[in-house]
Amino acid sequence: MQLIAEAQAFFDRFAALETQVNQAQELDPTLLDNLIQAVRDFIDYKRRLLALIIQCQIAPCLYPLLIDHITREAVNFLDLLKNSSPEDPLDAILAVEVFWLRIMKEHIEFVRGLLDPSERLLIEQSDQFIATFSNLLDEARDLQSMNFQAQPDSFNTVARFTDAVLENITQLRNFKAAAHELALLCQLLSIVSTPLLLDHIRREADRALLEIGALQAQLDMSDE
Ligand SMILES: [Fe+2]
Repeated sequence: MQLIAEAQAFFDRFAALETQVNQAQELDPTLLDNLIQAVRDFIDYKRRLLALIIQCQIAPCLYPLLIDHITREAVNFLDLLKNSSPEDPLDAILAVEVFWLRIMKEHIEFVRGLLDPSERLLIEQSDQFIATFSNLLDEARDLQSMNFQAQPDSFNTVARFTDAVLENITQLRNFKAAAHELALLCQLLSIVSTPLLLDHIRREADRALLEIGALQAQLDMSDE
């Protein structure tokens, strides 16, 4: 019960912050501090929740990996608020790609796990996405490792790889949007609790495209 009350308090706190952010002309230091503190507290809460699940002290109908996933997303948001991303364009784009490819891979793994077993074609498509995104994630980690070890002045393969990443995330984004439509039209058999979840992961794919696209533009500029 205490955990539910805490979750509700976070809901209210973030709703109030969202209103403030939408009304603000700029992010003043007080508002930024409040945001950072709220995200920090929320990270602590999610970590506590995950520990309770792992130790079988609570058993919500949620994948433990989903709690881990949303904790990493909160940590990423905190880094964004604190402006603590790497300065080197190659380091920056590879870090963002590793982060988002893992998130995208997990989204489709969660969706696959929520589809009704009779949704065989959608499950087959999900499996293909999982295979593709597993490979992309491994490749991003390989490139990140090579970049870290060699610190090259230029790394053209990263540019080519980034094109493939953007193309595949766009495809996954469209799949999520289509699944959301199907859920809204009651044409999807699943245990997805609300169509909003599918819209949420579609918005995260859009965010990934935006962040990677912006860093790709920076990479192009630094090459000139
Ligand atoms: Fe997510």
